[in-house]
Amino acid sequence: MTNSDDGSNMSKGSGETGLPGGKNVLVEYENGIAWVTLNRPEKRNAISPALAAEMLSVLDAIETDDRCGVLVLTGAGESFSSGMDLKEYFRATDSLSAEARLQIYRVNAQWQWRRLMYYPKATIAMVNGWCFGGGFTPMISCDLAIAAEEAIFGLSEINWGIIPGGIVTKAVSAVMNQRDALYYIMTGETFDGKRAAKMGLVNEAVPHAQLRERTTAIARTLLEKNPTALRAAKHAYRRVRDMSWDDAEDYLFAKNDQLRFLDPEKGREKGMTQFLDEKSYRPGLGAYRRDR
Ligand code: COA
Repeated sequence: MTNSDDGSNMSKGSGETGLPGGKNVLVEYENGIAWVTLNRPEKRNAISPALAAEMLSVLDAIETDDRCGVLVLTGAGESFSSGMDLKEYFRATDSLSAEARLQIYRVNAQWQWRRLMYYPKATIAMVNGWCFGGGFTPMISCDLAIAAEEAIFGLSEINWGIIPGGIVTKAVSAVMNQRDALYYIMTGETFDGKRAAKMGLVNEAVPHAQLRERTTAIARTLLEKNPTALRAAKHAYRRVRDMSWDDAEDYLFAKNDQLRFLDPEKGREKGMTQFLDEKSYRPGLGAYRRDR
């Protein structure tokens, strides 16, 4: 752990330091935030099998690390991610058997959505630049997404004769409306961060110069919340989307009971005491004091 210029506690990981990450994925811990950076800038952070394997081990490591309350996923250089590596994921695997190809793709699905979508910590995608094709899946799997206004997005698969596979089409259908999704899937046109925010693909877009500052501010807000409740809230949202109303009601009732049982800081009781008895805060206007 080192003290950075701004006085914050920052630790950088790159495999050799004993921290998670390596050549393809950089990890920095800073005041409760784990900054996870896709790190193949010379390939615009195209997702290779090696990067996918590294991301999976990074997610494993950070999951139980108290230095991470919020995970921010971003890209090195001018790109968030240029999508799947055409050379390593497509051309290099074309001659393999269907079974062998599936095996390679499975690792990628594992980090891009199976793990990330249900990650126990809050997650934010910070879209700093290019975001194409396979880059959409991890971006959408994150709980929140903040983009640079200047970032360029594209469902470019149609431009080279394929459809948005992996699970990109499904991921897109979860956050974009049908007209927008089909327009960009079928035309392959690019759009910028401002348009992405307008369509609800990302929460908001800010000038690139303010991107890290704004992302940090949102992460700080999340860090003030009860982490056990935060995890239950995001998991509940993801799960109930595909349930019937009856099932959802029952699931949410049970989930809240589970939360009371699991929560080590007994947030529900603290929240009620601080509001009803101490009158020290208003739940409608902010979070209870976790340190009391
Ligand atoms: N797969 C493999 N290699 C990729 C890549 C990808 N998805 N995206 C970029 N690269 C490589 C390029 O081949 C090039 O490699 P080289 O230096 O060995 O020649 C290097 O990264 C830089 O790319 P370049 O195209 O020169 O950068 P640019 O800044 O001019 O353009 C992009 C950036 C992202 C617009 C452009 O690289 C691009 O269109 N990439 C493909 C995007 C895409 O369709 N992805 C969908 C995949 S499902």
